[in-house]
Parts: sequence; structure tokens; C-alpha cells
Amino acid sequence: MQEIAISTHTGETARPFLKEVARLRIAVFRDFPYLYDGSLGYEMDYLEEYISSEKSLIVLAKHGAEIVGASTGIPLAEADEDFRKPIQAAGIDVRDVFYFGESVLLPDFRGQGLGHKFFDEREKRAADLGFRSAGFFSVIRADDHPLKPAHYRPHDAFWQKRGYARQDTMIARFPWKQLGEPQETSHELVFWLKELS
Ligand SMILES: CC(C)(COP(=O)(O)OP(=O)(O)OC[C@H]1O[C@@H](n2cnc3c(N)ncnc32)[C@H](O)[C@@H]1OP(=O)(O)O)[C@@H](O)C(=O)NCCC(=O)NCCS
Repeated sequence: MQEIAISTHTGETARPFLKEVARLRIAVFRDFPYLYDGSLGYEMDYLEEYISSEKSLIVLAKHGAEIVGASTGIPLAEADEDFRKPIQAAGIDVRDVFYFGESVLLPDFRGQGLGHKFFDEREKRAADLGFRSAGFFSVIRADDHPLKPAHYRPHDAFWQKRGYARQDTMIARFPWKQLGEPQETSHELVFWLKELS
């Protein structure tokens, strides 16, 4: 397999890649556990938030000219209020936390360490900027969810190994349109936190 090139882009420098990253998010998040029926318009607005922050980053994985993976990060203080609220409510100063938006990689390129590289790049950016901690949300799904594929493996063990602890008291509710549903519904996500120093 051709080598995958990793590159990191901050703020406005990521603009040329936005549409491709938006398409990638829509493709990958259609699968369980997200089941997201995404639209390019919403995605472009969402990603605009990232590039308008000077402290954000977008990490890209390229196979030749094709973007096959992407991962994002932004200071939590600049992230959506729905994500800030449960962390604030737990008594954490959101200014101390660097927030990871997502990691998405096309299935053919999984299992060769790119997920680790996405974490390495984002943790380095957070530490370089002086953040004390980093974290992200994962969607909560029932173990017996009818759309869960038989071969599905949760990422919990990977995240724990990377030093993240699931914070069961920090639950966000965020709306998106789920596949097969006529309109947006609210979904619960749980926060995972790691101290960087
Ligand atoms: C998350 C994702 C980017 C990880 O990418 P990846 O390149 O396969 O990850 P890596 O190869 O670095 O492997 C990371 C760890 O996950 C484990 N892993 C491999 N395949 C896995 C699978 N199918 N399910 C769960 N974990 C798996 C690996 O064993 C590795 O752990 P190790 O360090 O103990 O060996 C990719 O799986 C993906 O895009 N998933 C769909 C979107 C998603 O759920 N994103 C996360 C939340 S936003």
C-alpha cells in the first residue's frame, strides 16, 4: 500500500481542504455508532468554526492526492456551547481544556497506526499551546442497539490506553439527523479527559 502522508494545518491554512474533510465526515459518520445523515452545508459551517480559530488544528492523512483521514482540535472555550456546558457544570475551567472534535479515517486505511498519529499531533498542539488537559466526546449507544454490526469493536480500550478516562458525570446532548429519521433528534455523548502535564 502506498505510504500515507500526515500533515497538520492550523486555522485558515486548512481552508483549501474543508470540502473534502466535510465529505469524509459524512461518509465515515454514516456508520454505527453515529448513524449520521449529514449534509455538506451543515458540515461546511461546522468546519468554518475550526478554521476561524487560530489555535485550532486539522490533521490530514493523504494517500497520494486523496484525503483519506482527518482529525480536528480546538480550545474547548471556542467549541460549541453544548459541549462546554457539561464540563463547566462539573467544575472544570474550560479555558484549561483542548477539545478534540473527531477522528475519521476511511475503513481501508484503519489498523495501521493512523489513529495514534492523530492523537499524537493533537496532544502535541494542546501541550505546545499550554493546555493542562485534553478531551473529546463519544456517542453513547446501547449494547443491544439494533443497528450495531456483529463485528463492531468499541474504541474504549484504545482511548483508555491513550490515557483518557471516561467521565460519566459529563454528558452532552447534541442534535443530528439520524439515518432513516425525518428530522434531527438529540443524542447523548460522554466526555473523555486526560491530564497532559
Ligand atoms: C478512530 C479511527 C480514526 C482509528 O483509526 P486507526 O488508524 O484504525 O487506529 P490505529 O490503527 O492507530 O489503532 C488504534 C487502536 O485501535 C485498535 N483497533 C484496531 N482496529 C480496531 C477496530 N476495528 N475497532 C476498535 N479498535 C480497533 C488498535 O488495535 C489500536 O490499539 P493498540 O494500540 O492497542 O494496538 C478509525 O477507526 C475511524 O475512523 N473510525 C470511525 C470513526 C470514529 O469512530 N471515530 C472516533 C470518534 S470521532
